[in-house]
Amino acid sequence: MKRILMVVLSGLILAVFSGCSSIGPDKTGAKKIIRRRCTGCHSTRRIFKKRRTRDEWEKVIDRMIRHGAELKPDEKQRIIELLTRQD
Ligand code: HEC
Repeated sequence: MKRILMVVLSGLILAVFSGCSSIGPDKTGAKKIIRRRCTGCHSTRRIFKKRRTRDEWEKVIDRMIRHGAELKPDEKQRIIELLTRQD
């Protein structure tokens, strides 16, 4: 009984920590960038809630930069790659 509980618990913990695991492998480290740069003001749920085109993401991220997000140009590109790869 205890073992089952442990398995369920560690599964839950993993699910929480991987957060955005539903969007494929993180080859470019883009998820890490998102965790580091985008979660200061809101959770990743806000980010992964909706699908957008590349153009829409450009606009959203530019707006986040105006809000105060600190993002280098190459980091922005990597995030957009990840976010538009969802489908
Ligand atoms: C300095 C604070 C801040 C940071 C850092 C930040 N955001 Fe936001 N974000 C906001 C605020 C405020 C809103 C709500 C107002 C708005 O939509 O402009 C928001 C809303 C959003 C939305 C919902 C917009 C919509 O129209 O549905 C998305 C998606 C988003 N942010 C993505 C990101 C991403 C990706 C990053 C990392 C590059 C990021 N945010 C970093 C402040 C921030």
